[in-house]
Amino acid sequence: MSASLDNPSASDEIVVDVQRRRFLTTATTVVGAAGAAALGVQFFSSMSPSARALAAGAPVEADISLIEAGAQLTVEWRGKPVWIVNRTDEMLATLGENDGLLKDPNCEKAVQPDYARNAFRSREQHKNYIVLVGICTHLGCSPAYVPDMTAGINPALKSGWECACHGSAFDIAGRVTSTSPAATNLEVPPYQYLNDTTVLVGDDGASA
Ligand code: FES
Repeated sequence: MSASLDNPSASDEIVVDVQRRRFLTTATTVVGAAGAAALGVQFFSSMSPSARALAAGAPVEADISLIEAGAQLTVEWRGKPVWIVNRTDEMLATLGENDGLLKDPNCEKAVQPDYARNAFRSREQHKNYIVLVGICTHLGCSPAYVPDMTAGINPALKSGWECACHGSAFDIAGRVTSTSPAATNLEVPPYQYLNDTTVLVGDDGASA
């Protein structure tokens, strides 16, 4: 990553900030590895192609067959965490119940590709799998995945993400609650399936 600190543009500032938070996230991951399985979080570092290409923003492949039902896999794309969650049918069934709790239930203001503008915010081909940029839309922290939110700060959501920084909460489609300081839903990045088990994050083939 080549963000300039001497004369940073607005986008560079964002990149630097995200990188700092990513390092914090990584440290937390190491410390909390023993409890990761219990939280339904999986991590891997599929770095293909080269590290240099990745730093420049190259797409990243992930094997979704590795993700257990209800678990989250985190990959890195453009210096940011990207989550892939293998949502259970039970999780999907809760989505329609959340609309009254959300700022933008229909994702009219959300950043997402057209193919994710549906009730699941995912490609129809694999609707159980959601792909999200793991950066809070408030001030850029990385929220924690909470597959069981019934004992959390937003028990009505059942499952989703909670941001410890200022209390934003997102449902299992990445939609923000009305009471959160974050203004918008989590971003869905461009992505495509190369086959039934491989997702390519960062390239949806739109320009191919
Ligand atoms: S950064 Fe997530 S709630 Fe503020």
